Amino acid sequence: MNFSAVLLCLLVVFKCAACLNSTIDTLECPALESGDIYTQSEFLSRLAHKCRYDRLLLPTYETRDVVYVHASAYIYFIQPAEAHDLNFKLHFLLQLRWTDPRLAYSIYSPERTRIIGENDLRSRVWAPHLYIPNEQSSSLMGTDSKDVLISIAPSGEVLFSRRMQGVLYCWMNLQKFPFDEQTCSMNLESWKYNASILRLMWEKDNPVRLSSELHLTEYSLLDYWTNESVVRGDMAHMRVGGAGNYSALKFTFKLGREVGYYLMDYFIPSMMIVAMSWVTFWLQADASPPRITLGTSTMLSFITLASSQAKTLPKVSYIKASEIWFLGCTGFIFAALVEFAFVNTIYHRKKVAPLKKVNSKYILKSTLTPRLARKELQKEMQESSPQLSKSRSCSSLSQETSTEPAGPGYNNYLTVHSFPSAMNLPTITTQSCDDMNTRQSPGRRQHLNSGSDISDDPPQHHTWTEMTPKEIAAWIDKRSRLLFPLMFLCFNILYWTFVYCL
Ligand SMILES: *[C@@H]1O[C@H](CO)[C@@H](O)[C@H](O)[C@H]1NC(C)=O
Ligand SMILES: *[C@@H]1O[C@H](CO)[C@@H](O)[C@H](O)[C@H]1NC(C)=O
Ligand SMILES: *[C@@H]1O[C@H](CO)[C@@H](O)[C@H](O)[C@H]1NC(C)=O
Ligand SMILES: *[C@@H]1O[C@H](CO)[C@@H](O)[C@H](O)[C@H]1NC(C)=O
Repeated sequence: MNFSAVLLCLLVVFKCAACLNSTIDTLECPALESGDIYTQSEFLSRLAHKCRYDRLLLPTYETRDVVYVHASAYIYFIQPAEAHDLNFKLHFLLQLRWTDPRLAYSIYSPERTRIIGENDLRSRVWAPHLYIPNEQSSSLMGTDSKDVLISIAPSGEVLFSRRMQGVLYCWMNLQKFPFDEQTCSMNLESWKYNASILRLMWEKDNPVRLSSELHLTEYSLLDYWTNESVVRGDMAHMRVGGAGNYSALKFTFKLGREVGYYLMDYFIPSMMIVAMSWVTFWLQADASPPRITLGTSTMLSFITLASSQAKTLPKVSYIKASEIWFLGCTGFIFAALVEFAFVNTIYHRKKVAPLKKVNSKYILKSTLTPRLARKELQKEMQESSPQLSKSRSCSSLSQETSTEPAGPGYNNYLTVHSFPSAMNLPTITTQSCDDMNTRQSPGRRQHLNSGSDISDDPPQHHTWTEMTPKEIAAWIDKRSRLLFPLMFLCFNILYWTFVYCL
């Protein structure tokens, strides 16, 4: 009883297996002969049937040949993002071409010219898996269904197209911003198979075509090229293919930034702001409120202008060309403010500055070290024309040669007292203090004599002039009117040659 039941059971199981086997047998490997009578979809399901086609195996798994995958791309759209994102957006159609001998159907269906399908066909045949190493994100495009097209030629040549969009990294070097040129690239690499199994190649002619309506707002496309290479699998142990070299494709394009926007929105306004800060030199030296207001407001407006520019840039550690410009302009505006402070301080000085010569060197010297100049004057006078100094101390001529101005109204005039050399002095003065001169060491006289002997212009040595503080202030302002624009011009020449010639 028990035994017969087990026997029955075994019989049933055996019979079932046999019948299953037979049903699979009849279902498997449907005939391909006279394939012209089938519809495309029917024919393909027969061609790529499980029994004769394994889409997980390489097209050349039998011969162990290298599979060559030829690529080409059509680029619709390139949009470099804002500089601080360091990436760009690309819309492109990528077409891959390879030959799968298992799909050659010309002998079965001689009438058929092409099998064309979309995603469903793609899911039935082998296709290389490529990835974009420098992608930030990428996706297949398509609204309803993804834009994938696959077509199989009678010879087994498969064309696989997909429309993609990608945001790709581009490590821009912004040292010359905004006069920079950037080279960005799209890389394609084999994901699964190493270079000894799968080789990627660009199509022979025109592998990358660009849409004629490529609108690059901020850039112009200068050049583009393609390269084929073999890269070391860096995450080798993670990849299926194991350690080894992987075939890779690269499409590189060179973009030049359009400077027009930056010129109109940054460089020219900042030049104007710097020029505005020079207005201060035409104002009175003691006109503190307008001059301070002018200085600070130009500084503030320039910083506002510059910071709106800086916001669009990544915070890189190196100095960019735009920052050199910023520092230069800030320096000029700051210098104009400092000039005012300097001039204002001098303006309010009490003492008249004695000057050896009316010459920028001596004027600046006297303003920076007024006491020193004064001392020098006294020393000089004692050394060069002792008669004179003595005469002033003792004679009645003091009122004429006095260094201090006579009255308050005197300040406004340039009082140039030229002290002529000893030889030109009226004899009266020397005589009046003759006794004092004799007390001086003889060396001084020698010095005088030798001086008059040697040179034609000894008077220059002993010519001292004076300027009132107000005159000096006005003098400095006047010079600044010329000096600042000239220096800014020099800065500009240096800057623009650096930008365009280096
Ligand atoms: C199933 O069919 C295969 C041949 O296709 C055969 O070798 C096998 O023995 C069959 N199995 C059974 C249980 O009949
Ligand atoms: C890439 O190709 C371009 C032109 O085809 C060539 O000038 C350049 O040297 C190549 N670069 C590499 C890394 O092979
Ligand atoms: C990868 O390529 C380099 C040269 O390009 C070669 O030296 C190295 O042996 C290759 N590695 C493998 C695993 O083939
Ligand atoms: C490529 O990968 C295959 C296995 O997929 C392996 O047998 C072969 O050695 C690899 N080639 C290289 C050069 O690493």
